[in-house]
Amino acid sequence: MTDFKRTLVTAALPYANGPVHVGHLAGVYVPADIYARYLRLKGEEVLLVGGSDEHGVPIAIKARKEGVAPGDIIDRYHHMIKESFAGLGISFDIYSRTSSSTHRDLASAFFKKLHDEGKFVQRSSMQFYDEQAGQFLPDRYITGTCPHCGNERAYGDQCEACGTSLNATDLIHPLSAITGNAPELKETTHWYLPLDDYEAWLKEWILKEHPEWKPNVYGQCKSWLDSGLQPRAVTRDLDWGIPVPLDGCEGKVLYVWFDAPIGYISATKELTPEWETYWKDPETRIVHFIGKDNIVFHCIIFPAMLKAEGSYNLPDNVPANEFLNLEGEKISTTRDWAIWLHEYLVDFKDKQDVLRYVLAAIAPETKDSDFTWKDFQARNNNELVAIYGNFVNRALVLARKYRDNRVPPRGNVTDRDREMLEEIPGAVERVEAALDAFHFRDALREAMGLARAGNKYLADTEPWKIAGSDPARVNTILNICLQVAANLSALMEPFMPFSSARLREFMRIAPVAWREMGDDAIPAGHLLGEAGLLFEKIDDETIQVQVDRLEEKKQRLATNEQSLAPGKQDVSIDDFASMDMRVGTIISAEKIAKTKKLMKLVVDTGMDRRVIVSGIAEQYAPGDVVGKQVCVLVNLSPRVLKGIESRGMILMAEDADGKLSFVAPDGQVAPGTVVR
Ligand code: 2FM
Ligand code: ZN
Repeated sequence: MTDFKRTLVTAALPYANGPVHVGHLAGVYVPADIYARYLRLKGEEVLLVGGSDEHGVPIAIKARKEGVAPGDIIDRYHHMIKESFAGLGISFDIYSRTSSSTHRDLASAFFKKLHDEGKFVQRSSMQFYDEQAGQFLPDRYITGTCPHCGNERAYGDQCEACGTSLNATDLIHPLSAITGNAPELKETTHWYLPLDDYEAWLKEWILKEHPEWKPNVYGQCKSWLDSGLQPRAVTRDLDWGIPVPLDGCEGKVLYVWFDAPIGYISATKELTPEWETYWKDPETRIVHFIGKDNIVFHCIIFPAMLKAEGSYNLPDNVPANEFLNLEGEKISTTRDWAIWLHEYLVDFKDKQDVLRYVLAAIAPETKDSDFTWKDFQARNNNELVAIYGNFVNRALVLARKYRDNRVPPRGNVTDRDREMLEEIPGAVERVEAALDAFHFRDALREAMGLARAGNKYLADTEPWKIAGSDPARVNTILNICLQVAANLSALMEPFMPFSSARLREFMRIAPVAWREMGDDAIPAGHLLGEAGLLFEKIDDETIQVQVDRLEEKKQRLATNEQSLAPGKQDVSIDDFASMDMRVGTIISAEKIAKTKKLMKLVVDTGMDRRVIVSGIAEQYAPGDVVGKQVCVLVNLSPRVLKGIESRGMILMAEDADGKLSFVAPDGQVAPGTVVR
C-alpha cells in the first residue's frame, strides 16, 4: 500500500427503479460502510459517497409500463432508497443522484473534453427504428422469436426462456415494444471509447501494478484483457439520459454506464469545495465497493475514461463481492424474490444491527453465499445474544450487584488476567489486518472472538463464587471485564453501530476511538449507566412469518411463470378495432418440409381463399384440421416463411406447457363472420 493521506470510499450507485434488497447490502453497502466507519474511528480523513443511478433503459421501460414520466419513477425510488440506507446506518457523507444539475454539467463537460481532444471514434451502425414512435429502439424495447428455442417473447438482448444473449437482429419477426410494429433497420451514429487503445496500459496497470486486488476481481479483469478489448459506444439513441452535448445530436444521450461512475465525482463535488483534493491529489486513495456484475465498468471502462480525461486519480482498489442468494435461489428484483430493506426496517424495528451482522458474517467475498431466515435467527440467538450480549450483560450486572455499578480498581493480575488483557490488542490487531485486506467476515469473527474470550474468562474466574471471600480479586476480574466491554463498543462499532451506541449508554461512556482501545479504556471509579439487553432472542413465530411470506412469493411466482404469460400494455378500442378477425374454414393442410412446427393451410375466409402458415405441425396432423372452423386475423401484414407467403394468422390458445388448441365459434357460422 502506498502512502496516502485520505481515502475516498464509493459505493455503487443503485438504479432508482426499485428498492434496495439484502443482496445489494451484503455485496456493497454493508462492507463499504464498515470500511468507512473503521477509517473514521481510526481518525483518518475519509469520505463515503454514493447516490442513485437514475438513467438507463430499465428506468425508461418501467416509466412507460406504468404510464408515468421517468422523473416520477426516480423520485419515488431515490427517496425510498436514501431513507432506507439511513435507516440501516449506512453512513454516507453524501447520497446524491445522477439527475442533479451538478452531475449533468460535470458528465457533459467530461464527455465534451474527451470529444474535443479526439479521444472518441465515431461509428455508424444499423439499429432498429420504430417509424410510428419516431425513435430508435434499445434492445430491451424489441421482442421477437428466439432463433434458438422458438420462444416468441424473447428480448432484443436476451431470451429469458433459454438464457441465450442475443443481438436484436438475431430475433425472428422482431417487433417494437412501443407500437407493436415491425421495426426497420436504420443507420445511426455513435461515439465510441476505443478501449483497444488502452489495453496495453490496462494490462500493465491492473495485472502488473495491482496483483493485490481480490482474486475474483483480478481474475475477471485478466479474462477481459486476455480476450482483447473492443471500442465501446458511450452514447445511445434514447429519450432518457444526459443529452449528448454536441450540436445536431437530438435524441441522443450519454450511455448510462458513461455517466454513472462520473456520479461519484459529482457527488463529491456537491459535498465539498475540496472535492478535487479527493479526486486529483495523488495522496488520496480511491476504493470502489461494487458487486461482481460491475467489475468491468469499474476496473476497465471507467479507468480508461479517467485515463483519457487525464486529470483524475485512478482507483486504488475495487474490492468487489460475488452475489448473495436468498434461500438457495438467485435474488431477482423483477421476480420479487428478495428481502427488501425498507420492509425489513418495519418488520424488525431496532434490529438494524442484526441484519448488518448477519450480512457481514455471510458476505459473498470469495464466492456466492446464501441468506436464509433460519440462519439469520440462529446467528442472532446463538451469537449476538448468547455471546456478545451475554458477556456484556453479565459484566454490567456483576458490577451493579457487587460494586454499586462502579468500575472497580484493578489490583494484582494473574497469568489468566494477563492473558485476557492481552487478548484486547491482539483482537484489535487482527480485526485491523482483516479490514485492511477487505476480509470483512474474518474481521467480524475476530471481533466476536473478543466477546467469546470475555465469556470464557468469566467462566474460568467465577467472581460470583468469591464475592464474599476475596474482594480484591473480584475487583480485578470485574475491572478487566469492563475494559473488555468498553473495547467491544469500539471494536464492534464499524459492524454494529447501533448496539455500540446502546452499549456506551449502558456504560455511560463516550465513544472510544480506535487508538484508545486497550486495557485502560475505562477508568476505575467510573459510575456505569442503566444496563439493558443489547440483543434479544428472535422467536420461531417471527421467523415463520418471513418464511411463509417467501413461500407465498414462491407459489405466486410458480403460478405466474407456469401458467400466465406476462400481461401487456393497455390498448385502445381503436387499436383493437383495427384488427380484422373473421371465422374461416381450413380447406387443405400440408406439413412444410424441413421444419418441425410449420404447416401450410389454405383457408376460406369468406372473402378469399388464402395461404396461411401456422406453427401447429408438432401438435396436429393435416388430417386433424381440414374442415375446421377457426378464427383468423386476416389483416396481418403478409410475411414470407420458408419461402411461402403467409397472409394472416390462425388464433390459437396456448398454455404454459405450449399446448395449443384452436379458438373457434361454438357453432357452425358462415366463413367471413366477423369476430370482435
Ligand atoms: O449495477 C448497478 O446497479 C449500477 N446502477 C451501478 C452503477 S455504479 C456507478 F458506476 F455508478
Ligand atoms: Zn430462447
